Amino acid sequence: MTDRHIADVVIIGSGIAALVAADRLSYHKNVIIITKSKKENSNSCRAQGGVAAAISRNDHWTNHFSDTMVAGNFHNDEEAVETLVQRGPELLRALIDKGMSFDKDARGHLVLGQEGAHGIRRILHAGGDATGKALVDFMLNRLRINPKVKIIENMLVVDLLVEENHCFGIKVKTNSGRSKIIYSRDTILAAGGSGGLYSFTSNDPTVTGDGLVLAYRAGANLVDLEFVQFHPTLLYVNGEVKGLISEAVRGEGAVLITEGGKRLMHGIHPLEDLAPRDVVAREINRAVLNGEQIFLDISMIKDFKKRFPTITELCVENGVDLTAGRIPVVPGAHFHMGGVEVNQQGQTSVEHLYAIGEVACTGVHGANRLASNSLLEGIVFATELAEHLAFERSEVFDIPTIESDDKTCKELHLPEEEEIKTVMMKYVGIIRDKTSLQTAIEWLERYLPSEDKNFDLDALTHEQIGVYNMLQAAWLITTSALMREESRGGHYRSDFPEEETNWTKKKIVRKLIKNNE
Ligand code: SIN
Repeated sequence: MTDRHIADVVIIGSGIAALVAADRLSYHKNVIIITKSKKENSNSCRAQGGVAAAISRNDHWTNHFSDTMVAGNFHNDEEAVETLVQRGPELLRALIDKGMSFDKDARGHLVLGQEGAHGIRRILHAGGDATGKALVDFMLNRLRINPKVKIIENMLVVDLLVEENHCFGIKVKTNSGRSKIIYSRDTILAAGGSGGLYSFTSNDPTVTGDGLVLAYRAGANLVDLEFVQFHPTLLYVNGEVKGLISEAVRGEGAVLITEGGKRLMHGIHPLEDLAPRDVVAREINRAVLNGEQIFLDISMIKDFKKRFPTITELCVENGVDLTAGRIPVVPGAHFHMGGVEVNQQGQTSVEHLYAIGEVACTGVHGANRLASNSLLEGIVFATELAEHLAFERSEVFDIPTIESDDKTCKELHLPEEEEIKTVMMKYVGIIRDKTSLQTAIEWLERYLPSEDKNFDLDALTHEQIGVYNMLQAAWLITTSALMREESRGGHYRSDFPEEETNWTKKKIVRKLIKNNE
């Protein structure tokens, strides 16, 4: 028996983009937020550094624009970048007016942090290094008392409902395996990125590319999937990644050193330790492949514990003695620049289906995201979308009859999640080449049914759908990486190590061709 519900708008995901969109949309619409685990399980909640915005008197949005373009290797969509950096300060001031509190000095002025590839201090932060959590808590507190917004946790979206390129809702499964249909006039994907596909990641373990594959199976265009950002500094203890060490630590003066105390980034890039992330991550990776352990030397930072309480706690929990002034680090998957192709209002190529936040690709980040532009992206483009939808009527819409199709339900042989992560890390990681990518594709295709256009996911458990989604997302990223024969930003091919001008601004678009098309 399948339950049916109706909403004006359904939002999939519970990070900052989802929460800002729900808050804004609720002036005009009833909104349901669906999340596959707890509402706090998002990358937004884990963001440490802060939110970048040209808010100080010495700064200007044009400076933020240039830094974003340079970090993105000029693969960015310039109009999207303009919207991001121009609307950012205004929307952050609006949040502050509503009661959001960012860190201030004794005189009550905002304290702005520094991060890699920013030409000036422009990072607003909260709770020292707990900016994402502070923002998410602030938005959740607003939504808690909002009768127009309902948040449903522990519910997995199996597929989007699409007829003739029109999305009219979602098919979900509860933890107990019960199926439901939620019809909605508009459906918004805000399900985050795909860092959880890799064994070394800063991401919440639930973030494994679900949004990408839901859009793909719905027939939407995906773009730039080969661009995966690896954060240079994840805490590395006993061969395992334990969490993020914010780039803001290097912004306050920390430097990367070898075991013998030699500066790693000296002579590699003019910005040294504050070079764009892809440059720093590759350099650490090179040292690690040579058998070296790299450390962040934090000995020069006064009051480290006060400025970075979350990182201090993380280090203490994992037995790292901060009085020694060194934190062992390794790079890991952090952010997906590619995603569901959208315009600035979040519109995908499927009608009434929208995407915002990390799952979306407006092109704003180009080939490599500038530090602290992700929370900003969530806030700005969620607002753009909500403003766009506010002008759409929300009365009754036609619900198409769902035809029972001839989907096959066959036995699937699935790998373990950890196996997928290991393959992705080893063959589709910081450095790729044709052989490594082909090895990964061959392995993934062993498990992916070739006729997956007709494959019925309904019969699978939560866990099986999760693994199936991981395989499909990994396959999309890997096959895209094989197609791009150059190196740019987060995509580095050792067999094509140069940035090629004929690839500048060129996009690899992926779309599922359905049987009836
Ligand atoms: C960090 O604090 O280094 C991560 C924040 C970001 O990715 O922008």
